[in-house]
Amino acid sequence: MTANSRPVDDPASGSAPGPLPRPGILDVAPYVGGESKAEGVERVIRLASNESALGPSPRAIAAYASRAAEIHRYPDGGSSELRDAIARHHGLDAERIVCGSGSDELISLLVRAYVGPDDEVVYSRHGFLMYPIAATTAGATAIAAPEKSLTSDIDALLAAVTDRTRIVFLANPNNPTGTYNSAEEVARLHAALPKSVLLIVDAAYAEFVSRNDYEPGIALVDAALLDGAENAVMLRTFSKIYALGGMRLGWAYCPPAIADVLNRVRSPFNVNAAAQAAGVAALADVAAVDRAREHNDIWLPWLTRELTALGLTVNPSVGNFVLVRFPDGARNADAAFAHLQSRGILTRKMGAYHLPEWLRITVGTEDEMREVIAVLRAFLGA
Ligand SMILES: Cc1ncc(COP(=O)(O)O)c(C=O)c1O
Repeated sequence: MTANSRPVDDPASGSAPGPLPRPGILDVAPYVGGESKAEGVERVIRLASNESALGPSPRAIAAYASRAAEIHRYPDGGSSELRDAIARHHGLDAERIVCGSGSDELISLLVRAYVGPDDEVVYSRHGFLMYPIAATTAGATAIAAPEKSLTSDIDALLAAVTDRTRIVFLANPNNPTGTYNSAEEVARLHAALPKSVLLIVDAAYAEFVSRNDYEPGIALVDAALLDGAENAVMLRTFSKIYALGGMRLGWAYCPPAIADVLNRVRSPFNVNAAAQAAGVAALADVAAVDRAREHNDIWLPWLTRELTALGLTVNPSVGNFVLVRFPDGARNADAAFAHLQSRGILTRKMGAYHLPEWLRITVGTEDEMREVIAVLRAFLGA
């Protein structure tokens, strides 16, 4: 009998430890989300979680509210209307779309389905934290491939693949670095992977990207399938440009076999009714998405320019956030974080991403952007 399965009343168990979780679970540092409160400050500016600057579409709010009198009913377990709406919007096959309670849930489900103890999951060194968390929870080893210029390095990812690798995660664009890989690079990564290794392209910020050489993953998944390779999945979310983070809504575009697997492992009603309704309405409000993109197209470069003019280093971003480096000494990132927080401005510390000299700042409203720059200017004495 292993230590993990020893009953609590076994005298050999000493101080009656109670049930133990599976190996790996206690190695996981719980995910710490962005702060949402600042003590003693009336007006809080939330720039810590890459939420939408402009808020949700009024049509999504109305759709959400319209479900209120029906909350005694179970939702449609297959999210059919929502999958149809996504399929129409993107020109996809609804049968190959699986919705989740946030793309976080889909990350966990894919790891649960394809990864076990002693397996390996490859991701890039400053990649989204949910990848190593999900891998470790499964008792697997998360292998961090080095990056080049804070950008996922295709050769390094490939070099990290062994015969134990089950999944390679690529956030494109990546959070928190804000950088992206071209369609050609991602295709090269996929082409060089064994067909038994699943490539998951997480395109949470895809709608913000306007680069000719970028592709969110739809073409990749389809091209792979045409080639007989059922090992590429794209993840998307309604939490960013669609501004529905509080609803928890994401989706996966998969080869048929992987959609089938996800539909087996997900819980039967994993997406609640209000989230499904809000998602359908948000997709239909094309003007709201255009406004959010146009806002970001103005204020992302503005924020980048102003921070640079303050003497700070800003990593070039194509998302709705920037990663900004502070100097050593009294004006370091921790001091800047505390100073901003004392003024009610919440940003994200980056220690967990091995980037302790940096803060991540989400693009907010015009007022919020002007305020953050004014506060930082005073902090830096610039
Ligand atoms: C790269 C990336 N993937 C996935 C997620 C999770 O999104 P969701 O809210 O859909 O769970 C985030 C959220 O910040 C993210 O940055």
